[in-house]
Amino acid sequence: MKETEWNLQDKYVLITGATNGIGQAAAKALAARGANIGIIARNQGRAEAISKLLKIQTSKPIKVDIFIADLSSQRSIRRVAQQILERCPQIDILVNNAGALFDTLQKTEEGVEMTWALNHLAPFLLTSLLLDRLKESDSARVINTSSHGHKMVKNGFDFDNINGEHLYTGVKKFMGGPTLRYAQTKLATILFTSELERRLEGTNISVHCFDPGLVATNFNQNNGRMAKATMAVMKLFSRTPEEGADTLIWLAEMKDVSWLNGKYCADRQLKEPTKVATDRKLATRLWKISEEQVGLSLK
Ligand SMILES: NC(=O)c1ccc[n+]([C@@H]2O[C@H](COP(=O)([O-])OP(=O)(O)OC[C@H]3O[C@@H](n4cnc5c(N)ncnc54)[C@H](OP(=O)(O)O)[C@@H]3O)[C@@H](O)[C@H]2O)c1
Repeated sequence: MKETEWNLQDKYVLITGATNGIGQAAAKALAARGANIGIIARNQGRAEAISKLLKIQTSKPIKVDIFIADLSSQRSIRRVAQQILERCPQIDILVNNAGALFDTLQKTEEGVEMTWALNHLAPFLLTSLLLDRLKESDSARVINTSSHGHKMVKNGFDFDNINGEHLYTGVKKFMGGPTLRYAQTKLATILFTSELERRLEGTNISVHCFDPGLVATNFNQNNGRMAKATMAVMKLFSRTPEEGADTLIWLAEMKDVSWLNGKYCADRQLKEPTKVATDRKLATRLWKISEEQVGLSLK
């Protein structure tokens, strides 16, 4: 271990989206460094398979916990957060990585558009419910997976139409409405990261987000034939999941991350996101709307 690295051996990392793609590569790399891992997954079989893999690949025994939740459902997130608080006395790193793009208008049981629910509200609610436990760690960090895709959004959000229904019909859908919707959620990740950092000022928790680049994963496989065919072509130009997870690992194992607190990174560097992604008023407004959407009021 280099002097600039945080010793992950006694750390507990809770990660979403570790059953596939970037999250799975990250969980493997973190476990290989000796971290104990908590996997939040929607599928028990896939979670058990990755849990086994993590345990056999490490020379020193590590602990791997499995928590089952559908992260598009607020009810499910609340239930799993309760289980986590009961079973995990220590959380040092929370990685909000699970995400997807839904190219048809689908709504969760709470009536929220699915891409927004999974990519933005899930990290918002899960992090909020686990904050007190993160505060109990000597030094904790939250790492959120964003995307270069946020650059598609020029004007923020239509807060009067928070479900973005219009993006899924007619010409808007044809012109890439669902992709713009996805981009909005990844912009929300950057704004959430900076606003949470401001709200946690003076605490032991730092907050980070990163762009993994274009990565060959299962992303978009939940959509139609067209999306799958596009992804198959894009795979030719994509990074491996390990390369996609590299900046996440960099953020997780760097000793001093204070200079990256609240910031957006890519390729192991601090990166400037778009202007709208640094709009403080927008971040505050988004926070308030998100609180209303999940029915929480946070300091
Ligand atoms: N791939 C890229 O080029 C790229 C680029 C920029 C950003 N990203 C972001 O990177 C993150 C990881 O994506 P990926 O590319 O690794 O995609 P992936 O291979 O499809 O992995 C997505 C992960 O999220 C989990 N997940 C999806 N919906 C869930 C739900 N409702 N509840 C719980 N878990 C759920 C999946 O679980 P299952 O195994 O059960 O499906 C899987 O583990 C996402 O936030 C994505 O937006 C990806």
